[in-house]
Amino acid sequence: MSVRKSAGEFVREKNNFDAGAFRKEIVGAKTRVQTLKGRKLNYINLDNAASTPALRTAVEEIKKYLPWYSGVHRGTGFKSLISTHAYEKARQEIGAFVGADPDLDTVILLKNTTEAINKLSYRFDFKPGDRVLTTAMEHHSNDLPWRQHTRVHYVQVDGKGRLDINDLEKKLKINYPKVKLLAVCGASNVTGHINDVHYIAQMAHEYKARILVDGAQLVPHRVVNMRDHKDQAHLDFMVFSGHKIYAPFGTGVLIGPYDFFAQGDPEYSGGGTVDMVFHEGVYWSAPPEKDEAGSPNVLGAIGLAASLRYLQKIGMHKLAAYEDELTCYALNRLQKIRGLKIYGAESRVGVISFNIKGVEHGLVGAELCYGAGIGVRNGCFCAQPYVRHLLELNSGYLPEYEEQGLPGMVRISLAAYNTRQEIDYLADCLDGIINRRYELKKQYVFSPQDNTFYPRQWDAKKLLQVSRVSREPSP
Ligand code: ALA
Repeated sequence: MSVRKSAGEFVREKNNFDAGAFRKEIVGAKTRVQTLKGRKLNYINLDNAASTPALRTAVEEIKKYLPWYSGVHRGTGFKSLISTHAYEKARQEIGAFVGADPDLDTVILLKNTTEAINKLSYRFDFKPGDRVLTTAMEHHSNDLPWRQHTRVHYVQVDGKGRLDINDLEKKLKINYPKVKLLAVCGASNVTGHINDVHYIAQMAHEYKARILVDGAQLVPHRVVNMRDHKDQAHLDFMVFSGHKIYAPFGTGVLIGPYDFFAQGDPEYSGGGTVDMVFHEGVYWSAPPEKDEAGSPNVLGAIGLAASLRYLQKIGMHKLAAYEDELTCYALNRLQKIRGLKIYGAESRVGVISFNIKGVEHGLVGAELCYGAGIGVRNGCFCAQPYVRHLLELNSGYLPEYEEQGLPGMVRISLAAYNTRQEIDYLADCLDGIINRRYELKKQYVFSPQDNTFYPRQWDAKKLLQVSRVSREPSP
């Protein structure tokens, strides 16, 4: 969506998204914190790739349903009937948000994306010799679960962290017909790089492989549609998390073909998964109940559906355009900072990872936190092979990491309630860090046990006590 005007400058078209109004709907947007030097500031959250704050509407919807809260599917009282209805309606809305087919797909509600991928990895009936193709840019959650069940091959990425489409095709061809699944992220949680998932899906289908899109970083920031099952570019499986899309109440989503989940045994069993049980065997319930063992997170699903409804009402394309504009602004601002290196290419969701020459990523993160009241993430972002590749590190574990900590980056990740003023403040703080780097190295101490920098005069109790939420009314 961003376009390069001339060397290094990014520009965007106009958009009528009202970021100020959206920000008012964010719970905790006015949280105050106190820095080490005693300045009281509005907290700036630039860690949305980890978790977004809640939308007010999601909290309100949960509160509305709370008096009716009850067990679902198996009760006969009014509360159970209403809870069941609300839960099933939420399921249907969650599926519709990403274009799942209500007749052909099933929507399984779980805890988060990690659990969703783990479940899917158990539900594939891999035979000896079968393979899963994943990529060198994945979060550990879209890599490690597959290793436990079958052989995994990795599609390579280029120096900027973009997927190598030629390598993908080569690996699909060489391994044909053994590749049962191509598991790929929609957008990277390190570089924000967006994969052309429909193009990739076409390619996978040509070689008779299915595709899973890890939508954790894409669904909250772009319009996503799984497309018609007859379309060669259809996405077979989709996963994403409520806590990254303004509904942090413990709901994860796994969507895939009903027929696929109708086969086989669930990896978890127990209450809610069966129609009939004999000592000799069981008859599983139909999907999705079969894959939702135990009492589900009814209120989490209701909250997620409310958040998605709200986003849809605004228009995901508007949110996306605003975020894209903000991302361009941030890239322009950050790339002017002396000694700051940004990883990845220009086309991305609002995830920007960087390093500052001569300053440890942990120290930058610590000073942004304690000195400036800005929340970011630093480290390897649960994507160690990808981060090592971007850092051009070929070695394995080195003894000096014990004392100095693991190599990594600093990451900011934007959402539609962030502002240009916040980016400006961040950029000024980063300039300040560069200018005061020698002083800062004396003010912070590295703790190898938890791989983190702390202020030398660390008084957790004092700092946490004085960090207060403002008098913003709770929803
Ligand atoms: N996957 C989340 C992140 O990248 C937790 O921060």
